[in-house]
Amino acid sequence: MKFKNLFNILKVLPLFLLIISCGSEEVNDGPIIIPVAKVQAAFNMSISSTDPNVLLLDNRTVGTGDFTSKWDFGKGGSFVLDQPGIEEVRYDTDGTFSVRLIVENSAGLTVDAKTVIVDSKSGGICPNGVCGSTNSSILKDAAATFFVGNITRSSRVNSGGKHTELLKTYFSSITSEYEMKMDRMHPSEGNFDFTAADAIVNFGVENGINVHGHALIWHNATPDWVKNFSGSDAEFEVMVKNYIVTTVTRYKGKIASWDVVNEAIDDGSGNPLRNSIFKQKMGDDYIKKCYQWAREADPDCLLFYNDYNMASTPSKRAAMFKIVDSLGDLIDGVGAQMHINYNFPSKANIQAVADGTVSRGLKLHFAELDIRANPDNNQTSLTAERANLQKAKFAEVVKIYNSIPLENKYALTVWGLRDNETWLTDFWGHIDWPLMFNEDYSKKPAYDGFIEGLQ
Ligand code: XIL
Repeated sequence: MKFKNLFNILKVLPLFLLIISCGSEEVNDGPIIIPVAKVQAAFNMSISSTDPNVLLLDNRTVGTGDFTSKWDFGKGGSFVLDQPGIEEVRYDTDGTFSVRLIVENSAGLTVDAKTVIVDSKSGGICPNGVCGSTNSSILKDAAATFFVGNITRSSRVNSGGKHTELLKTYFSSITSEYEMKMDRMHPSEGNFDFTAADAIVNFGVENGINVHGHALIWHNATPDWVKNFSGSDAEFEVMVKNYIVTTVTRYKGKIASWDVVNEAIDDGSGNPLRNSIFKQKMGDDYIKKCYQWAREADPDCLLFYNDYNMASTPSKRAAMFKIVDSLGDLIDGVGAQMHINYNFPSKANIQAVADGTVSRGLKLHFAELDIRANPDNNQTSLTAERANLQKAKFAEVVKIYNSIPLENKYALTVWGLRDNETWLTDFWGHIDWPLMFNEDYSKKPAYDGFIEGLQ
């Protein structure tokens, strides 16, 4: 019994001592001390819009209480105390600099650092560390054995301006981005509208630029009146024939090539023919008929079949070659849309498109080239790392194209001039930088990649 009491006392003793000690602290000490937290150094930097050699540094340190901030501009001088507002710092010498913001309070210091690359040949400070290309080679001259194409619009060729100047300087072939499709050229029953198409074709002819026709039949640019055609199947076929013959005849001698049918293959299992209105009304044979009519209208025009995911999806590639084989002499070439990513598809799969086309003795059009640098939408700007990977992919694609035999070459068409103009922003709903020129018309590393691929 005695032991049990002692045991109980021992059990509560620590708690008792704790209460005593807490109580004594309250009595003995002065003011309560709240430890000071470190503040987190942070800054934003941008390039002055009026002077490409001036960096704007904005101290965005997070924290409360007293602290001091000082800058190390990475130029070897002493630290500079941060002043209220934006710091403007000139970088006149080429090189790589580490800009640091050092923030200190009584709890210690924190640092934020960013790298700045200055390259006078690229025009000053390189945005996001990505220096533009300073390549003086001109694409269309460097690619001596095939056309280097790009897209255009009637508004651009009509208004001239810097965009069109660049197009003329660097490219030897043009494709209409959307005005030479059925919904534009045959907008209603019995009516054709070739205003925009004429402007583009005439611009090409007047400037000695090759014109590639794109695209006579495409499910995505089929006007509603055709989708809801009211006549019989036989009347539908007459209408399609009339459209193809009228259009191809109009541009006879002016247009070197046409994509007669675009994207006829479904992405689903087994890659069957897409169930377009043309297939529904005219049967699976509709493709052959379209090529026949185009061939009769202009026997000198090169006829292409154009589709996407030719490299990334071997089953779709096989379906495409099956169609092409079934067309025999009615077809001259394969148009492989190259809407690809900086890291996909593999070189081997891109090579397989070239090999399959060459082994059939057909011409190859690497059409619609753009290379996404932000396919997963996890980048807010084009980083130097991505820009270089994109450059390498441009080089890879061009090298594969440039290595095919001369008789199989036709054109490599890039789908857009400047990053801010790409159709991919709308298509995927987020930002990307898939082309070779920046918004300010400067050349990206991707341009170097293109030239590199030619060597
Ligand atoms: C796109 C154009 O870039 C867009 O401006 C237009 O709104 C829709 O068509 N495959 C093709 C091209 O064959 O014609 C498409 O062009 C892109 C996908």
